[in-house]
Amino acid sequence: MRSMLIPGKATAILGSQFGDEGKGKFVDLLAQDADLVCRVQGGNNAGHTIWVEGRKVVTHLLPSGVLHPQCEVAIGAGVVVDPLVLCDEILRLKEQGFDLAPERVHIDFRATAILPAHKAQDLKREFERGQSGNAIGTTGRGIGPAYASRAQRDVPRLAECLTPGFLENFAQSESPLAEGLTPETLSEFMEACQFLRPYLKDVAMLVHNRLNDGARVMIEGAQGGLLDVSYGTYPFVTSSNLIAGSCPGGIGMPPTRVGNIIGVAKAYSTRVGHGPFPGELKGALEESIRERGHEFGSTTGRSRRIGWLDLVALRYMAQVNGYQSLALMKSDVLCGLEHVGVVTAYKDSRTGQLMQGWPMTAVAWESVEPVVEFEPGWERVLGVKNTLDESLERFVKRIEDWIGIPVSYISTGAERSEGLWRNLR
Ligand code: GDP
Ligand code: IMO
Ligand code: MG
Repeated sequence: MRSMLIPGKATAILGSQFGDEGKGKFVDLLAQDADLVCRVQGGNNAGHTIWVEGRKVVTHLLPSGVLHPQCEVAIGAGVVVDPLVLCDEILRLKEQGFDLAPERVHIDFRATAILPAHKAQDLKREFERGQSGNAIGTTGRGIGPAYASRAQRDVPRLAECLTPGFLENFAQSESPLAEGLTPETLSEFMEACQFLRPYLKDVAMLVHNRLNDGARVMIEGAQGGLLDVSYGTYPFVTSSNLIAGSCPGGIGMPPTRVGNIIGVAKAYSTRVGHGPFPGELKGALEESIRERGHEFGSTTGRSRRIGWLDLVALRYMAQVNGYQSLALMKSDVLCGLEHVGVVTAYKDSRTGQLMQGWPMTAVAWESVEPVVEFEPGWERVLGVKNTLDESLERFVKRIEDWIGIPVSYISTGAERSEGLWRNLR
């Protein structure tokens, strides 16, 4: 396991479906040997749940490495930060007994601030889209509007928020982003920014120095590749790039420093919010997998949609990201099913022909009809002598053959201790 993390290099752990693959659990597991874990994109639309000896820890903005006292954590310039949420998260985790000293928690001063107006815009846009039947089902955390304001160069970064007099003037300005900054919310917002002051640094330089000192660094992806704003199922996506090629940029790390890229996928699929979902299940099986897998969002509590593992999408993600291996999560949730489905092709429902290549438009996605093949299921994840059950092993091999990379870890439960390593060099 230690070999996954290379001294002086970064290992990127990236979701390869629609988010909630179990990145938090896997990052926490590897972070036992890491010196620094970084968030590089997204914001508090993310939610990672980690279980350690019956205790539940949830993170939204802080990297999951925060559970390990030897490990520093960093939030890069590519992240959109709601100061109120981050402040609460730091206080909540402190109360849970974790060390959140500014010496080990680093936030880039260039990170974009999510303002009250962004959250209001997010909800308003969703409502309007909903009226015409086009809602995305965003988390309502203001993520899209904050990234849009950054592209427009209208929004203050955390550094500006802490510049004396800046926010007071901004609140009085004509900017539409000043909406919602009433005297009361402004003072709450400024208080949260002041709380974050000791944590703000030039994180790009810090990462540079740590890597030069031989640190084992990790990048913790948020969301999953199918929600990438360029390579996902546009427009039903989030607002940031989150594939491997864009990750180092979110923390100011040269791409040549990334030494290992690991995709994370569940043994089945889930999706929160609207948009295409080949292999989606409906009915009793959907309900039972949702219950067994506790598939309710860590951020919004919404029910996650459930489907079979989509090998077409997984292979595409492996290619676009350049995964060197895959971590397969939640294999235990499918225990007891006689057969387990996998999507092996997309058919065009308009022509009945197999689709060649990745669907290009939302309309093309609407006509995707998945071809589902079935594999024998497994009663339990472990067989004799704590090796993988035979049917599960066959399922894993099928995945490896399909995507052309090894599965290095199979997670067999939510606890940190539940899982098996394989194919390690
Ligand atoms: P993330 O957003 O990718 O970090 O994933 P989430 O934390 O939002 O969702 C994954 C959920 O599955 C969490 O509740 C985890 O505790 C849980 N989990 C992770 N791995 C496993 C596993 O192998 N088996 C089971 N049963 N639960 C798991
Ligand atoms: P983690 O890191 C699952 C989804 C939302 C919505 C779309 C756009 O826990 O895997 P946004 O608020 O980002 O504008 O919403 O993206 N979404 C996620 N789904 N897990 C996440 O993060 C997600 N972050 C955003 O449900 O469909
Ligand atoms: Mg999640």
